[in-house]
Amino acid sequence: MIRAGVMGWPVDHSRSPLLHGFWLKQHGIDGGYELLPVRPEDLETALRSLAAQGFAGCNLTVPHKQAALAVVDHVDVTAARTGAVNTVIVRRDGTLEGRNTDAYGFRENLRSAQPAWRAGAGPAVVLGAGGAARAVVAALLDDGAPEIRLINRSRDHAAALATALGGPIMVVDWSRRAAALANAALLVNTTSLGMVGQPPLDLALDALPQAALVNDIVYAPLETPLLSAARRRGNPVVDGLGMLLHQARPAFAAWFGVTPDVTPALRQAVAASLVAR
Ligand code: ATR
Repeated sequence: MIRAGVMGWPVDHSRSPLLHGFWLKQHGIDGGYELLPVRPEDLETALRSLAAQGFAGCNLTVPHKQAALAVVDHVDVTAARTGAVNTVIVRRDGTLEGRNTDAYGFRENLRSAQPAWRAGAGPAVVLGAGGAARAVVAALLDDGAPEIRLINRSRDHAAALATALGGPIMVVDWSRRAAALANAALLVNTTSLGMVGQPPLDLALDALPQAALVNDIVYAPLETPLLSAARRRGNPVVDGLGMLLHQARPAFAAWFGVTPDVTPALRQAVAASLVAR
């Protein structure tokens, strides 16, 4: 049996076992995907013991994504660029490879939900400057976004991200977020605002062109106040669940040897688990 799992602390909230379990069953693979509660101080030991325990690899979630960079033996280009590892693969020789599939997940979510949309269509506005923002900005730069307006409550975090990634990133003050929407082709929320238990994102959309695509990477709830407001005024919207589903595909393929699809049935199963909690 091939083993994989997700390491985090805490980790019980993770939907990854449901997601990978769905694919294992669908493809009739003799494998398992487990919750792996690992304290920050035990990360290195836990990663180093994967091979001996028959694991093909694991996902990493809070708080391990950055720390794992210093542990793994090989780091792929995107993980190095985004400064975070979300997928670990145990290579045949027992060494550990760290990858980051969040940028892929962001891109594939937009691509499958809005096939005609292109990053080159115009300026993108990205709210937030945490780990998720790095993956989003990296994907947009790679896909040819002509300008990225990066807006974060703590301006210094946005400035550090802009320096780390380079390219046409303009750092804009949080207080000027509404005006920064003028002539944008994309608006992405990567902050935790709008998530269950968090305050909504306070943002007037009046300056945003009606054709601009609006994406929230928050997926609980599926329809955030930002997405409702954008939908009401006629903007195309994409929710954040697809990013979670798509980022898992390359990891599953690397561990279990089959590239799985994001189907309506999978979306339905994971969406139902969001409502259940
Ligand atoms: P993730 O890995 O999901 O991106 P993170 O690294 O903790 O999570 O980043 C959270 C983001 O949400 C940050 O951009 C944070 O802004 P700061 O850099 O100023 O902390 C943003 N955020 C969280 N709570 C916020 C709030 N109440 N108002 C505005 N931004 C907020």
